[in-house]
This record gives sequence, structure tokens and C-alpha cells, in this order.
Amino acid sequence: MKRRLHAGARRYAMSLAVIGACAGLISLHAHGQDDNPRFHHAPASTDDLRNPNANQANAVGDGKTLYGTYCASCHGASAQGNGNVPPLASAGVKKATPGALFWFITQGDVPNGMPAWSSLTEDQRWKLVSYLQSLDAGKADASAPKAVASMTPGDWPAPTPPFTDFRYESPGTSRKITVADLPKPYATTSAGNGPQLVARPDNVWPKAPPGFKVELFATGLDNPRLLRTAPNGDVFVAETKAGRITMFRGITPDGRPKETHVFATGLKQPFGIAFYPAQHPQWMYVGNTDAVVRFAYKDGDVQASGKPEHIADLPHSDGGHSTRDIAFSPDGSRMYVSVGSKSNVDDADTHPEEKNRADILVFKPDGSDMHIYASGIRNAVGLAVDPKSGELWCSVNERDGLGDNLVPDYITHVQEGGFYGWPWWYMGNHQDPRHAGKHPELGSKTIVPDVLLHPHNASLQLTFYDGAQFPDEYRGDIFASEHGSWNRSVRVGYEVIRVPRHGTARASGEYEDFLTGFTLPSGQVWGRPVGITVAHDGSLLVSDDGSNVIWRVSYQGK
Ligand code: HEC
Repeated sequence: MKRRLHAGARRYAMSLAVIGACAGLISLHAHGQDDNPRFHHAPASTDDLRNPNANQANAVGDGKTLYGTYCASCHGASAQGNGNVPPLASAGVKKATPGALFWFITQGDVPNGMPAWSSLTEDQRWKLVSYLQSLDAGKADASAPKAVASMTPGDWPAPTPPFTDFRYESPGTSRKITVADLPKPYATTSAGNGPQLVARPDNVWPKAPPGFKVELFATGLDNPRLLRTAPNGDVFVAETKAGRITMFRGITPDGRPKETHVFATGLKQPFGIAFYPAQHPQWMYVGNTDAVVRFAYKDGDVQASGKPEHIADLPHSDGGHSTRDIAFSPDGSRMYVSVGSKSNVDDADTHPEEKNRADILVFKPDGSDMHIYASGIRNAVGLAVDPKSGELWCSVNERDGLGDNLVPDYITHVQEGGFYGWPWWYMGNHQDPRHAGKHPELGSKTIVPDVLLHPHNASLQLTFYDGAQFPDEYRGDIFASEHGSWNRSVRVGYEVIRVPRHGTARASGEYEDFLTGFTLPSGQVWGRPVGITVAHDGSLLVSDDGSNVIWRVSYQGK
């Protein structure tokens, strides 16, 4: 990620200095290929590489899902290219030998902004080759959302309240979206408008409400994702791509950790972290993408005591939603695990790979007795138990492809046995047009969540504020990280929100912008909130996998 950030920084600098440099870059490569016939000067040894998936029917489909996860944000949802990133539905890619394409994806072209993808498995890279070479040159993949990323700031329409976009996000602004506000499906086209990350300009800093101070807590991390505070106050971060968990102890007067330790490595896309039992824990549980594992743990450990113990397998796939969060019931009898869908909105009846996905699963803490706790929840990235009521809450990414202002993401308490709509229904009695006529009996059973968040916000981790530092009115409120949109013509999200609960155990549907400013007025993005936790001193920590840092928000008084 460091290399990728560096590339982003260079590209940003370049776009300031040399307008139109990108077109030059691409034609330069085209010329370069005159003296070396291979794609991007691939070595001759790539001629002999064969795609092991060449005759596998599902390789293209799996490759497409992978493409959506790793590549679409730059190359466009339909591989049509994006700003200064070249199209991949192109004659050059089609003509390349599979080996040379595989080599280039592995290698990247870091100085020119193309990351190296050696972190993906060989199988994943070959599936990407299969997908890219299945595309028709010069023709955007029509089955993918239409790209409108070429819109420039002058073209952006003003939002229609209660919907908004990043230009209007500012700390303290209160929002409320209800089902009565929802437009019809396809009221606008579905956008492919992923962020192209740039480096944070020196004079730009996240904005918090008056009285709060924002500091850099930790820098130079590798894809920092979920954050969890241990019972003794140590803070853990999952560095998902690196397969690592790093921990921090203490806070210096200038808001930095006193100690930093690598706690565990060699994990498989770790995300969720949970301590068990809640007091004087004996275990640290980790949600790998394919399994729950646990380390023997006691207060004060700075390094995993040994290899993790396997607790339970989880449904997983190449591509598709990969995060797995974990939480325990207050009495310690239940372990909740969130598993997002594989697809955007495939019919779960006819897609066996969606079995036990788009669900919150529940197990005994030893991993036995798995069943479904609540279903139809497309992708509950964050789980948290309300310290006051003991109820499970979640933060959910809803589906794409129905237009700019559908479907709201949400935060809600989770009803045991509850059905939340995916894939056939949404937000109560609204049928997804892609499944018209199916499961009529479920429309009235679909629960309307407590807090409808802005569609396409990409709501990730959530936490209850149980610290003593913020003013009293924050006690018991929810904070959540919004990673930011790709499927919306003008960006939204890229912020931390607060869900006020006014001392109750419920949420009324209102929420507020709390920490904003991760996008530039041009629409370029430099930061993306992912994880959120309350540190021992009552400050709020926010991980950001756009600039690979952790931010600290503390209250300084009036
Ligand atoms: C951070 C943005 C970014 C991401 C993410 C990204 N790319 Fe790229 N890619 C680029 C840029 C920029 C170039 C142009 C590099 C150059 O040739 O100067 C490029 C070039 C390419 C090319 C060469 C195209 C040509 O015709 O020359 C291929 C193939 C490619 N990328 C594949 C992928 C795949 C597959 C993924 C996902 C696994 C991916 N890229 C993800 C930015 C990105």
C-alpha cells in the first residue's frame, strides 16, 4: 500500500504540473511496443505461460467479481477507463498473450500508478486475465454499471434533499432519510465512479465539530481496516491485505501511541477482532475471510502466543464481500459473525454460493452449533453490542445498480430471526426490480432498519461511545465510518457519522456528519474511513485505508 500511495502522490503532483500528461503516457507505451512485441515489454519467458483456467466456465465470472473488487475503482466499472487510467476492454489487452497480461498484472507499473497485484493469489490473477480477455475491445462491458466518472465539478447537479453529496457534508449537519423519500429504481443511471486516490495535500486535514481536535495517531500502515480496543485499553488494528494485526499501547501528550507492536502475521484477510470473555479475556478471536480463529490471550500481551486455533469455517469466495466481523453476547453464550453476500444481488434461491451469506451467523464461542441469527442483510461489515441494552447492532452496505439514491445503507439493532430483504426486497415492502414477482410472502416481513443512511455511503465499522471524554450528550451514541461511494454520479460518504440516541437504547433515524473532508473540491479522494473505536482515554480512533493512517479525535472543551 505504501507503494500505491506513492504512485497516487506522484499522479497527483503530475496532474497539477502537466495537464494532459496521461494521454502522453499511454501513447508512449504504444510506441514502446514497436521494438518489443510483447505487452508492456513482458519478458520472453511469459510466452510459455498457460492460463490454467482457460477452459473453466466460471473463470470469467469469478474474474469479473475480482475486477469489481480490485480494479474497477481505477479502470472503471465496465473497464472503459477512467480519467488517466487506460481502458482494459481494449485491443491491446485482447491481443496480449495471457502470460504477458498475467505478468503485467503481477508486476504493475508502480511509477505510472498501476499497483502490483502479487498480493492476489495466482488463481485470482489468472481469473482476471480470463475476464479481461473475454471483453470486446473498445466496448464497455454492457452488463456492468454505466460510467459517468467523466463528469467534472461544473456538471454536478445540486442534490435533492434529503439526499446529498460530499460537497454538502460538514460536521454537525443533521440528516434523516425515511422510506417515504426513496425514489423509484432506475430514477437515475447507475454510476461507475470509484475514487481515484490522491495523496493528502499538506494543507488539508479532516474536519470535526467545534471543540474537537483531530490528530494523526499512527501513520505508514498497510491497509488499516477494523479497529478494536481490548479490555485493558490496548488498541488493535487489522491490516487486512498484509494478513497482519498490529497493536498500540498508550497515548503520548501529542496523541501518538507510546508503543507499537506487530501482534500476529500470516492471517488470511483478517478483519473482525473480539476478546473473550469480556473481562480478563483468555482469547482473542479473529475473523479471517474464510474462518474464525483464535489466539490464547491475556491482558498485556503484545504478541500472539502461538499459532491460531481454528474455530469455525465461514463461507467465502474469490471476490465478493470478504470482511467478517465478530461480537459476543454480553453473557458470553453466543458468538455473532457477519458474512456478506458473494454478489451484488444474485437470487439466493438459485445461487448455492450465497448459502449462509448475507446473514449474521451465530455460534457457541467454541465454534459449534452454527445457525442463522438474522438474514437478508447484504453486507454487515460492522457488528457491535450496545453496552447498555446488550442488543446486537450492525452497519450494512446495501445493494448497487438501482441509481444514485437507492438503496440506503443502514445502521440498526438486529432482531433475532429477522429478515432484512436482500436480495428480493429492500427497506420493507419494496421489491427489487431484478427479482420482480419473487417471494411475495416476504415483502411484509422485510424489516425497515432503524437508521437509513445515505445510499452508497459504504457504511463500515460502528462503535458505541462509552468513553468519558466527549460531552455528556455523546454518551451511548453510535459512531460509524463511511468508506464512500463508487456507484453514485457525485460522491457521498467519505466521512464519520454520529447517530445520536439522546440517552435512549434506540435510534430515531437521524444521524449527523461528524468527521468530514476526506475528498477535495475536485472530487478526488485522499482518505477513506474504515475502522472506528473508542480509546481508553475516551478519544475516538478512526482508521483510513485511503491514506493508510489512524486519526485521533479528542475533545478539548469549549
Ligand atoms: C490505483 C489505480 C489502479 C488500480 C486499482 C488498478 N490499475 Fe491497472 N492501471 C492503472 C494505471 C494508471 C495504468 C496505466 C499504467 C501505464 O501504462 O502507464 C494501468 C494499466 C493497467 C493495464 C495495462 C493496460 C494497457 O493497455 O496498457 C492492465 C492490464 C491493468 N492495469 C490491469 C489492472 C487490473 C487487472 C487491476 C485489478 C487487479 C488493476 N489494473 C487495478 C491504475 C490502476
